[in-house]
Amino acid sequence: MTVKTQQWQTLWVNINLATMTEGGAGYGIIEQGALAVSEGKIAWVGAQAELPAYDQRQVEVIDGQGQWLTPGLIDCHTHLVYGGNRANEFEMRLQGASYEEISNAGGGIVSTVAATRKASEQELFSSALPRLTALHQQGVTTVEIKSGYGLDAENEIKMLKVAGLLAQALPVTVRRTFLGAHALPVEYKGRADDYIELVCEQMMPQIAEDKLADAVDVFCEGIGFSLEQTRRVFNSAKKHQLPVKVHAEQLSDLGGTELAADYQALSSDHLEFLSEAGVKAMAKADMTAVLLPGAFYFLRETQLPPIELLREHKVAMAIASDANPGSSPINSIQLMLHMACTLFRLTPAEALAGVTCFGAKALGLADKKGQLAPGYDADFALWNISQPAELSYQFGVNPLTALVRAGVKVIG
Ligand code: NIG
Ligand code: FE
Repeated sequence: MTVKTQQWQTLWVNINLATMTEGGAGYGIIEQGALAVSEGKIAWVGAQAELPAYDQRQVEVIDGQGQWLTPGLIDCHTHLVYGGNRANEFEMRLQGASYEEISNAGGGIVSTVAATRKASEQELFSSALPRLTALHQQGVTTVEIKSGYGLDAENEIKMLKVAGLLAQALPVTVRRTFLGAHALPVEYKGRADDYIELVCEQMMPQIAEDKLADAVDVFCEGIGFSLEQTRRVFNSAKKHQLPVKVHAEQLSDLGGTELAADYQALSSDHLEFLSEAGVKAMAKADMTAVLLPGAFYFLRETQLPPIELLREHKVAMAIASDANPGSSPINSIQLMLHMACTLFRLTPAEALAGVTCFGAKALGLADKKGQLAPGYDADFALWNISQPAELSYQFGVNPLTALVRAGVKVIG
């Protein structure tokens, strides 16, 4: 009788796994485990003692030396392509001006728009590359990058193309989000509805046609766009079969999250001012709450997102860097894990779920990424730690020892 052997390419042994297959409920731990890869996907996960027979001549066996394996980290909300920086506004805020005051005085997002419009594709690529490299070196295998500092067809497309170039330059999966409705460009001052018309009738069709974006986002806020304007953008996205997400309830409770729920949005992001009705709407629409501790910290926000309500209503919570020049000039997913716990009081398991399974969910990738399970993409990270809580407990020493993307070792 012949025993059927497994056709694997790589087999990781002598590892402990945080599979993240239990959502935020726990790590899904397998101690003394093994994980096999075949054709870029995870083929087998389990206790090493239960490994099925495999062809030892064909399989590369890697000894994990008792370290911990997690899914590759997912940063599901960034604005890391932009021109210039806003260190001057940081100084203004330290002298007492608020983020909103700076924005209303003609600074804020539109000042980055001016710098981004001026920058060439090459310049934007060169400035974004070290930011993405920093995330990658901390274990990130999937990142979302938004447009939103071009605010006209040419420059929004330029940003999205740069995001595409970054995906070719580094072994990181990049999901692109069209955020044309991020701020009102100066040339449309007093004509916000006309600008929304441009977003919906010109930019959206072109971006959809050229497949430059995987989703559409809107900044629904007093200093952003109204509910009605947000609705128009969502309708246009729907027409072009693009899923939506929203920056909402960051500075006030406009109800952008409830509106987004009507459109089965992937996520609502920020959420410091989210009401219980908003939480319930998210639960009903199975949306992900993307929490951004970097922006909370950098803007010295004091209103916490309604974490307890989100837990109670079983809304998936993702954590992301929001890397951007104005509200979170922080390119560190490891710091976000730490801050999710210290500032938002998430458990270390919830925080890790926020940058793995729930980060994937916020991008519509819940069935492909963010878990160590058979059939999932073989994106994973090996950490020199003695327990998973160390990933959010400490900050400043990078415990990453290996990173695998689509089955290929890219670090370590
Ligand atoms: O996610 N809230 C709006 N957008 C960004 C900030 C962008 C900026 O200030 O440049 C955010 O915080
Ligand atoms: Fe953002």
